[in-house]
Amino acid sequence: MTREPFGVGIVGAGPVVQAIHLPTLARLSERFVVRNIMDVNPDVAAAVAGRAGARPSSSIDELLADERVEVVAICSPSAFHAPQVIAAMRAGKRAVLCEKPFATDREQAELIAAASRETGVPVIVGAMHTVDPAWLAAIAEWEALGHEAHTIRSRVVLPPNARFETSATEVLTPRPASGLPDLDDPAVRAQMVFGGVLGLAVHDLPLIRRLLPAVDDIEVVSASALSPWGYEIGFTAHGRLVHAIGALTEQWRPTWELEVVSDEARMLLEFPPSYVHAGSATATITTDARAVRFGPYPHNGYEGEWLTLHAIASAGSAAAPPVDGLIDDLDFVLEVASAASETARQEATR
Ligand SMILES: NC(=O)c1ccc[n+]([C@@H]2O[C@H](COP(=O)([O-])OP(=O)(O)OC[C@H]3O[C@@H](n4cnc5c(N)ncnc54)[C@H](O)[C@@H]3O)[C@@H](O)[C@H]2O)c1
Repeated sequence: MTREPFGVGIVGAGPVVQAIHLPTLARLSERFVVRNIMDVNPDVAAAVAGRAGARPSSSIDELLADERVEVVAICSPSAFHAPQVIAAMRAGKRAVLCEKPFATDREQAELIAAASRETGVPVIVGAMHTVDPAWLAAIAEWEALGHEAHTIRSRVVLPPNARFETSATEVLTPRPASGLPDLDDPAVRAQMVFGGVLGLAVHDLPLIRRLLPAVDDIEVVSASALSPWGYEIGFTAHGRLVHAIGALTEQWRPTWELEVVSDEARMLLEFPPSYVHAGSATATITTDARAVRFGPYPHNGYEGEWLTLHAIASAGSAAAPPVDGLIDDLDFVLEVASAASETARQEATR
């Protein structure tokens, strides 16, 4: 390592920071040192910062005024992402990592893109599968061989988040227990599908977008909410079929798979569940002639996010992924979420 580790400021100190980012940064101590942690709840800021040996802040202005903070991770609830990303850019920090989704509508996404262009500060999104080394190796091979997907299946079956959060760390801010949603209400079903796409499918939709020839003619053919929490969605794009299931339930072994089928080949990606620090995904591309396996690699997608942030903070915005790609990913997510939730609402009222 030729330079000192970058000083990190973290905005929002909930379970994702405690169970995902702090353990990841601890493994990357040659590249990063956590300097400042801000939360609107000062007790949470103090407790989590104390654990990381960082200074606590109770406002983003206070964190951004800390000159030792060179890169910023925005890990607050989604509604606050856009203004906080923009504030970090305007404060002249070197780079920003924003948890997914980086905005909740296109207008906010465009404000981020405009601020990034104006300030020259790059931003990346915490969509860990997009930088998982097994995905990157397998998609390079898939594209080099010229395979064209006709069917894509995303299957995500996980226990509720709290189970893995508490396996990864002793969470200082356990989630309050939430009641079961009223699935007799079509509006609740629609909202569950919308939230499921923005919260869970969001990790794989950028991968799916890359596998489709284009996404300008999406047609949702079926969508429903699953009990106790989940979604099942079928849609087509340019004659290709995408089927996505996401469910949070204790009733099945954790599964996070993306299966891609072309006329000649099948690619299967098996990702570790969120919060699990156990190496990368694995991928297998199978044809009549052979099966080629990629991974597991030592680092996972969470480390991939921070390694990408390190690269762009070192090399400048020219090394960053184009911000327009992030907007296109978000557009795709919002379009699938809106169309699927409307279909789920209609199916529930039939
Ligand atoms: N990558 C993943 O695997 C993954 C998994 C789950 C959630 N997420 C994302 O991570 C982010 C954080 O998730 P979480 O589960 O920790 O969220 P959370 O809502 O449980 O906690 C966020 C923390 O932010 C604080 N906060 C609230 N408003 C704030 C503000 N305006 N400024 C600063 N802090 C504020 C809260 O007090 C809380 O401590 C979300 O954007 C979520 O979508 C990512």
